[in-house]
Formats: sequence, structure tokens, C-alpha cells
Amino acid sequence: MKVAVYSTRSYDRSHLEAANPAGTREFIWIEERLSPDTAALAHGCAVVCAFVNDQLDAPVLGALAAGGTRLIALRCAGYNHVDLAAVAELGLTVTHVPTYSPHAVAEHAIALLLTLNRRIHLAHDRMRRGDFTLDGLQGFDLYGKTAGLVGTGRIGIIAGRILQGFGCRVLAYDPYPPFEARGIGFEFCSIEELLARSDVVSLHCPLLPDTHHVINAASLARMKPGALLINTSRGGLIDTPAVIAALENNRLGGLGIDVYENEAVLFFEDHSSTGITDPQFARLIALPNVVATGHQGFFTHEALGDIARSIVASLDAFAAGYPIPHALRPRTPAAPVAVG
Ligand code: NAI
Repeated sequence: MKVAVYSTRSYDRSHLEAANPAGTREFIWIEERLSPDTAALAHGCAVVCAFVNDQLDAPVLGALAAGGTRLIALRCAGYNHVDLAAVAELGLTVTHVPTYSPHAVAEHAIALLLTLNRRIHLAHDRMRRGDFTLDGLQGFDLYGKTAGLVGTGRIGIIAGRILQGFGCRVLAYDPYPPFEARGIGFEFCSIEELLARSDVVSLHCPLLPDTHHVINAASLARMKPGALLINTSRGGLIDTPAVIAALENNRLGGLGIDVYENEAVLFFEDHSSTGITDPQFARLIALPNVVATGHQGFFTHEALGDIARSIVASLDAFAAGYPIPHALRPRTPAAPVAVG
């Protein structure tokens, strides 16, 4: 069985090879992103393994299906980039990896928060230039502050527990809170109240039609002046021009991001010879109160191993004709659950 692996990097290859020691699956390593231009490279491959910025809209899915692909194994948790209605229409199956180390992403969110609050990025640059002054590097104690979680799934719960460890009060908003998020000291409230009361807001919900630009000019105006905003989930949760305006006029104290709404053409590639061609992103990361990483929240040894083992388990199930674990269906929203 041939498996076309799009957006391959050396770390994908080594972890997938380690999870497939007997070599029972034939991986075709493709460095390019999956797009209308590259879909033909998977011709004759029953399985396509795709990543977060691969294009999986109806035309690309149609091209893959016409080339003989039956299964698309996403090596990520988020699947906002997949047209699930087209998947169903074409009779394809798509799986994702919902449960790889959620600690990796939660810990990264906290790393962004600590860097931003204590200005570690500025201090490090300054020290390299021989400047040991402290002006402009003042942060605040997290102890005793209020942190707001938007989304209390696997990652949000861990981020909240870490914040509780710092001595933060944790507010949470989630219309469908899982059982595990209850009885652990999170105070559930409306998103409006969360934004108004939090010194730090961290986004841990998926990108869906109702969460697109959940942080916009109106929600930014509701936030506490000087609050910090962290986003390790998906770039589309934030209206970037609105956030730039709030940062530039110091209404928002700082922004820590691992994701960006137009990241597909920037992230995971080396643009150092051409520079950043997206002026909006260039403007954003030039601000001193912004810390950014390029979608590396998942990037730990443990998470990559979990992902590779999950992909190989899906391939084994597919080859044996068993139900594929974590197969995705078009979304039918459940009624929101009230939490006291
Ligand atoms: P999860 O599915 O366990 O939890 C998501 C939570 O968000 C659920 O409890 C759900 O009820 C809630 N939610 C849904 N609609 C909401 C809304 N309108 N407002 C607030 N909450 C809402 O997902 P998990 O594993 O915690 O991942 C969260 C997100 O993190 C993923 O959707 C993905 O986009 C992102 N992610 C980022 C990675 C990175 O490398 N930066 C890696 C893995 C995931």
C-alpha cells in the first residue's frame, strides 16, 4: 500500500519510519504542500498523509479520489482545512490524530505567555548587543491574577492546570465543556465576562464558523486594558488587523501566537533569502509586545511519536478492512451545555 506523505520534513520521515519498523507501508515522501498543482503526485497512492497547511478543499479532494486515493490520514488534530461534505460525497475517509500529547501545546502556550510577560525575547536581544539595562522589561506576577481559557478540551484543561499552579484564578468559556473540565476549580462564565475579567486570555477552541474571528474589534474592546492574549489554536480565531490596532494603541498589552490566519504560505518554509512577503505579518511581528512562533506547539519528541504511531495504526486498520480510528464526519452541532 502506497502512502503519499505531503509537506514532509526530516522529522516526519524519521518518526514515521520508526513507527513502521517492518517497512510494511511504502511511504512516498513529498516535500511540497498538497495543492491543485501537487495533487497528481499522489496518483496511485491509496492513502494520502497530510498536514495542517495542506489544501483539502473539494477540487483537491476530487483530484485525489480520481487518482485512486481512498484514505486521507491527517497528522494533526485540527481539521478546519478539510471539506468534510466533499469527503462524504466522494466516498473518501479522513482521519485525524485527536489525542497526541496535549501537554506539548499547553506547555507551549505557557512558554509564549512567560516570554511575553517577562519580555524574555527583548532581554535576550538586548543582552546579545551588550545592553544589560532593564527599562521596558517590567512584567507582572502571574500569582493572584485571572486567566481566561476559551475552550476547555484536552489542551485547555492542561493549560488551566498549569496556570492554577502559578496561583492564577482560572475562568473558562466553553459551550460544550467536557466532563473532565468540571470540578477542577475552573469558574465557567460567558465569553463577555471572561474577556472583561481576565489579565491573560488563552485560546484553546477549534476554528469553526462560529469561532472565526472570535477575537475582533468588539471583543478586544471588552478586554481588560493591558491584558495579554495567547493563541496556540488556529490563526483564524483572531482578526489580525483589529489586533494590530489594539497592540499599536496599547489597549492590548501583548500577543503571543503560534498560529496566524494566513500562515499557509509562510510557515514551515525558509523565507530568509526573500524576507517576509506578507506585510501584515511583518508589521505584527515587528511590534515589541508580540512574540511569535511558527506553529511549533506540537513539536516535541513525545507528540511526534504519538502522531506517527496513530497514523500507522490507521494504515493497519485500513489495510485490514477494519473501521478506521478517529474517522471524521461532517459537523452537526450539539446543543450548548450550561455549566454552573
Ligand atoms: P478539543 O477538541 O479537546 O477541545 C476543544 C474545546 O473547544 C472543546 O471542549 C469544545 O467544546 C470547545 N469549543 C468548541 N466551540 C467553542 C467555542 N465557540 N468557544 C469556546 N470553546 C469552544 O481540542 P484540543 O485537543 O484541546 O485542541 C484545541 C485546538 O488546538 C485544536 O482545535 C487545534 O486547532 C489546536 N492545536 C494546535 C496545535 C499547535 O501545534 N499549535 C497542535 C494541536 C492542536
